[in-house]
Amino acid sequence: MRINIVAAAAAFALSTSYSLTAFSQAKPETLVEQRQAAMTLQAKYLFPLVPMAQGRVPFDAATVARNAAYLDVLIKMPWDGFVPSTEGVKNTRALPAIYKDEAKFKAAQERTQAEVSKLVVVSKSGNEANIKAQITQTVNACNSCHDSFRAKR
Ligand code: HEC
Repeated sequence: MRINIVAAAAAFALSTSYSLTAFSQAKPETLVEQRQAAMTLQAKYLFPLVPMAQGRVPFDAATVARNAAYLDVLIKMPWDGFVPSTEGVKNTRALPAIYKDEAKFKAAQERTQAEVSKLVVVSKSGNEANIKAQITQTVNACNSCHDSFRAKR
């Protein structure tokens, strides 16, 4: 059934010159801007939790739970913007390693998504120590990918 739908879509695409994927026609510059925007929003909702985890600002479980829910959606957004056509674009810090070791890049995405999913669950547990530990785990996962795949400033 699925194959039939794909075949029909392909036939439709060929007959009308529509692109098969929604993103293949997007300009590389646009994809870079969009993936950076998704990353920026992740920082917006994750980084204020870090001083909470460190005890430098008052702990607020409701804020952690809200931000974790936002992150759970945001973390899915950047990845379809990492395509080889964006490699020559100016103003990107994405390293060529992304396309040389796609399995490792994917694993880093999955690790971070898993940590965010855990944060969503733990944030509702009422266990402050566990919530703080999971904030740290999540930031570590972001940083681990940046260490391998994002150019230093
Ligand atoms: C699988 C790898 C990966 C993961 C996981 C990841 N990032 Fe990124 N991030 C990148 C890459 C690559 C760039 C550079 C993108 C570019 O410049 O085109 C980037 C860029 C950024 C930027 C700079 C955006 C800009 O405008 O230049 C911020 C902020 C950021 N990430 C935050 C985060 C946060 C917060 C998380 C975790 C919730 C995270 N990232 C998870 C790979 C990752």
